[in-house]
Amino acid sequence: MSSAVHSVANIFRPLSTPAESIYTLSMLVLAVCLVIFLVVAGVLAYTLLRFRRQTSDIDREPPQVYGSNQIEIAWTVIPIVIVLVLSMATARVISDVQNKRPPDNALQVTVVGHQWWWEIRYPALGVLTANELHVPVSTGTIRQPTFLRLESADVAHSFWVPQLAGKTDLIPNHPNSMWMEPNVEGTFLGNCAEFCGLQHANMLLRVVVESSADFDKWIASQRQRAMRGHPGEAAFMSLSCVNCHAVSGTGALGTFGPDLSHLMSRQTLGAGVIPNTSDNLRKWIREPQTMKPGSLMPNMQLNDRELDQVYAYLASLK
Ligand code: CUA
Repeated sequence: MSSAVHSVANIFRPLSTPAESIYTLSMLVLAVCLVIFLVVAGVLAYTLLRFRRQTSDIDREPPQVYGSNQIEIAWTVIPIVIVLVLSMATARVISDVQNKRPPDNALQVTVVGHQWWWEIRYPALGVLTANELHVPVSTGTIRQPTFLRLESADVAHSFWVPQLAGKTDLIPNHPNSMWMEPNVEGTFLGNCAEFCGLQHANMLLRVVVESSADFDKWIASQRQRAMRGHPGEAAFMSLSCVNCHAVSGTGALGTFGPDLSHLMSRQTLGAGVIPNTSDNLRKWIREPQTMKPGSLMPNMQLNDRELDQVYAYLASLK
C-alpha cells in the first residue's frame, strides 16, 4: 500500500472522478471571469487615461451622446450568452455528479456523522469501523467507484475530502448520497465541513485508497471477531466503557461511541486528533477531556491498575 498522505483541503489537485469534473468546471468559470475582468478593467483604464479632463476642456461641456443601439445590443447579448454557457456547463457537471447510477460492482458504504466522529459501515460486507474509510483504487479499465449513504446521529455534519469529491451534508433524518472514484493510492485527509459544536474542527476524517488486493485483505481482517482471552478483557468488560463502545464477539455492545474491535488498525485516535501510538492511547483513556475538550467520552477516573488493564486490552485489538 502506498503510504503517501496527500495534503489536506487541496481542491486544486483532484485525484478522483467527481472532484476532477468539479475542478475542470471551476477552471472554465474562472477563465471566463478572468476574460470579463480584463476587458472591463482594460476599457476602464483606457477611458480614464484617454478621456481625462484636459486644460482645453475647462470652459465647455464634452459632447453629449444619447444612446447607441449597437452598444446596447452588445451589452445585452454578450452577458446573456455568457450566462447561458456557464449555466449549461454547470448543469451538466451537477447532473454527471449527482445522477450517477452505481454500477453493479460499486462499493456501498454508509457513513453516519456523530459529535465528533464518523461511523463507517459496509453493510454488504459486514464491516463496522470509524473515522477511516478504506476504498479500492480505480485504475485504467478497472473502475470501482464507492457510493456513500450519508446519515447523521445528532446534528448536521458535512463530509468533505477535497481531493476526492465535493462536500455533502449529513442531515438528521434525511439520508444524502455521494460517490468517489479515486485513481491514486494513498491516504487522503478530510474533515467535517459544517459547524456541529465545540469539536467541529477536530472531526477529522481519512480515506485510505488501496489496491483491490489490499482492500480485500483489510476487509477480511476487519470481518474477524475481536481477539479474545486477553488478561485485560475482564477489567474492560466490568467498566462502563461497554455502555458506549462495542467489541465484536464480546458483551461490549455500546453503539454511542466508535466500535473498538480493531482499534489498533487505525492511524489516529479521537477522530484524527492524535496519532494512534501507545503513549497517546494511554493518555486518551486517562484524560480524553484534555486531548479533545468537550468530547462525549468522559474522564473515567480509572486507577493505575485499571488504566493498565484497559490500555493493554485495547492495544491487543489488532
Ligand atoms: Cu461534524 Cu462539524
